[in-house]
Amino acid sequence: MDDDGSVTTRRNFLTGCCVAMGAVAVGATAFPAISALRVASDLVFGKTEQEVDLSAIQPGEMKVVGLSLKRVTLIGTDDLVVPVMVLHRKPEWVRQMEEVKYGLKEPVEAVERYINPEWFVARAFCTHLGCTPNIIDESATPVNIVCPCHGGRFDTLGRVISGPPPSNLFLLPYRFVSENRINLFVSSPKDITATKVSDFQKA
Ligand code: FES
Repeated sequence: MDDDGSVTTRRNFLTGCCVAMGAVAVGATAFPAISALRVASDLVFGKTEQEVDLSAIQPGEMKVVGLSLKRVTLIGTDDLVVPVMVLHRKPEWVRQMEEVKYGLKEPVEAVERYINPEWFVARAFCTHLGCTPNIIDESATPVNIVCPCHGGRFDTLGRVISGPPPSNLFLLPYRFVSENRINLFVSSPKDITATKVSDFQKA
């Protein structure tokens, strides 16, 4: 959750920019074109759930899926596609995260960034200018997720380490429905700006 008004304002701005720019970036590559969006406070989403099969994602691999959302407005609905990364973390990446100390731009506890340490699920959406961070750099310590546009670097829990991104990758609400399947779920704009799993996990 946001700590103060300035962060809230920045996140709202980022949400508007990120959704709009991500829609363009992803639409240009893998998904259908998406209409431009206004800021998050103008958005109301219809409840959306979408399953992802984890069984084909090997340790060390990342899959980017498109989560289809409906935007509800006073004059009707339209369709959005939000790119979501699902990263299968290797056991050594998990160990490294516990053993190696490194600096974070926006510190948050590792345990707040995952449900199962083997898996990292987040919006595939760089908090700098909205590119898809999709490069895994295993030569770095800790292993980095790298944004191809301006070299922003994140750890494998999406916490920014270096480069222009101002904040960590946003999480996307999900739950395990079986050992090899997760369910992504979104019902409001704040769901796509989660920064901790406690933001969407119910007690
Ligand atoms: S858009 Fe990712 S570093 Fe600039």
